Amino acid sequence: MFEKILYPTDFSHEAHRALDFVVRLKDAGAREVVVLHVIDKGSFDAIARYATKDILEIEKNLKERAIAEMRPIEERLEKEGLKVKVIITKAVPYMGILEVEKNEKISAIVIGSHGMSNIEEIFLGSVSEKIVRRAKTPVLVVR
Ligand SMILES: Nc1ncnc2c1ncn2[C@@H]1O[C@H](COP(=O)(O)OP(=O)(O)O)[C@@H](O)[C@H]1O
Ligand SMILES: [Mg+2]
Repeated sequence: MFEKILYPTDFSHEAHRALDFVVRLKDAGAREVVVLHVIDKGSFDAIARYATKDILEIEKNLKERAIAEMRPIEERLEKEGLKVKVIITKAVPYMGILEVEKNEKISAIVIGSHGMSNIEEIFLGSVSEKIVRRAKTPVLVVR
């Protein structure tokens, strides 16, 4: 039923906690995991506006950092016998997530309730709230 899982991560502690639940979905039929990091286009554009360095260089650095952060996640999932596909894009984060949901024929999304901003008073982070509202597939929100 939950064959292909989309696991979007901002590499926060909260997103990392959600990874355990991705693994647990093996019992519900999970075979493949798409691990997605969206480079926040808004933040990127803001940095780019004031940057003295070449913006292509900044983008390259951000991608390289994301690839490095992805590696232990990939290893963990592969060790569990799951097929892994890594995607790194630059977009408005929630839009990037919904785009991959559509293009990859995802069966469920596993996401942290909060992320890097982690404001406890807010019920759901801004990204997870939009995903719960707009996703076509079931969403497992991990607190
Ligand atoms: N840029 C991103 N790329 C991929 N996944 C993300 C991104 N930002 C947030 N997420 C996912 O959404 C969850 C909730 O994050 P978010 O709604 O941004 O909370 P906060 O407002 O606390 O930062 C994260 O745990 C992660 O699973
Ligand atoms: Mg966030």
